[in-house]
Amino acid sequence: MDRRQLLKGLGFGVASLPFIGVKATSPNISVYGDEFNSDKTTDEKFWKKFRKEFYDVPKDFVNLENGYFGVQPIPVFDAYLKNVEKLNINSSRYLRTQYGKDFRGIVSSLSDFAGIEPDEALITRNATEALNIAIQGLNWEKGDEVILSDQDYYSMIETFEMLEKQKEIRIKRIQIPILPSNDSEIISSYQEAVTTRTKCILLTHMIHLTGQIMPVKKIADAFRPKGIDVIVDAAHSFAQLDFSLKDLGADFVGVNLHKWFGNPLGAGLLYVKKERIKDLKPMYGDKSKDENSIKKLGHFGTLSVPTILTIPEAQSFNETVTLQVKEKRLRHLQNYWTSEAKGIPNVVITTPTDPNRSCAIASFRIEGMETKEVISKLYEGSKIFTVIRDLEDLEVVRVTPSLYNLTEELDILLDGIKSIA
Ligand SMILES: Cc1ncc(COP(=O)(O)O)c(C=O)c1O
Repeated sequence: MDRRQLLKGLGFGVASLPFIGVKATSPNISVYGDEFNSDKTTDEKFWKKFRKEFYDVPKDFVNLENGYFGVQPIPVFDAYLKNVEKLNINSSRYLRTQYGKDFRGIVSSLSDFAGIEPDEALITRNATEALNIAIQGLNWEKGDEVILSDQDYYSMIETFEMLEKQKEIRIKRIQIPILPSNDSEIISSYQEAVTTRTKCILLTHMIHLTGQIMPVKKIADAFRPKGIDVIVDAAHSFAQLDFSLKDLGADFVGVNLHKWFGNPLGAGLLYVKKERIKDLKPMYGDKSKDENSIKKLGHFGTLSVPTILTIPEAQSFNETVTLQVKEKRLRHLQNYWTSEAKGIPNVVITTPTDPNRSCAIASFRIEGMETKEVISKLYEGSKIFTVIRDLEDLEVVRVTPSLYNLTEELDILLDGIKSIA
């Protein structure tokens, strides 16, 4: 089907397309009325209807790898197509006459959603870019130390390895427990690594390998009095968990908007506490902005405007479902399969299943079997799509359901695991 037909089929008559307006139309989710107010966490009938209305899901496999990026709900995808088309029609006139105002509105309402001020928010292309702006922006001197854990995201580790070569900073690598029994166990791993030269700690709010939620605020609070900066990688926690960025207690937080927030690919957000903006040097050349303006960090050039224009629709979807409902449902889906899988002989769950320590993401391995074999048998035998992740010297299967997944699909996963374990 050609693209024009596709758009027409979705109800976008080209002639009727209005000039771009970014106010979200809000998804047809209102058909549910007050239903989101009552606890629907375990109501499969409700979620089946929700999935039918709001998601196009693959018919030939079960996607349990929603950690890479989030499938856009239909109203968000529709808004994106509409924005692509409308921008193409109105082109530079829109960018030169109206986009600036629309963009400021988007930043302002996204900041509300994230629990920060608009002048502390910078829209980026992804979490990697947001975190690089913070990491490379700090004033590093020879001998400064940073503490990284073995479970931080590899791209951020590589940024620090680059600074190790360029600026002669020192990296202290620590191991954090995979299945901690309390927060002190984690905090003490950081305490043991701190020296008088420690300048910064990188913390991953939700570990991408296992889904473990880290006690970020406790760690940030413990090290702030020592003048140690904490940079938080919240790529997986933002819009999966119900929290605001300021709750993390750190001055620098990077997130993406294309994972759990559900925006089209290519959007992220950097939060920098207002008083700390002056402490970051721009990564992209800029000489016109004030040193206290976050805009000095975002001299990116021309961006994917339709992606940015779709943010209000994705935000509206999250606000309508509510993060509270989303977090509860996602945690239920994870507990549904992990609680049964841990009783299957040879299956080892590598995620702490305490509700304060994990949500949608969990991982496992099967003793005596290569993980790549597990992945391919799950796909060949059960059409379950998952991904392999390297956890220290182990390889694990990461399983990530999204809001559209149903427990009946997790039953297929469990049957698949039983048949191969
Ligand atoms: C923990 C973590 N941090 C950062 C990233 C990078 O996100 P992006 O690719 O959007 O830059 C990822 C991506 O999977 C991640 O899992």
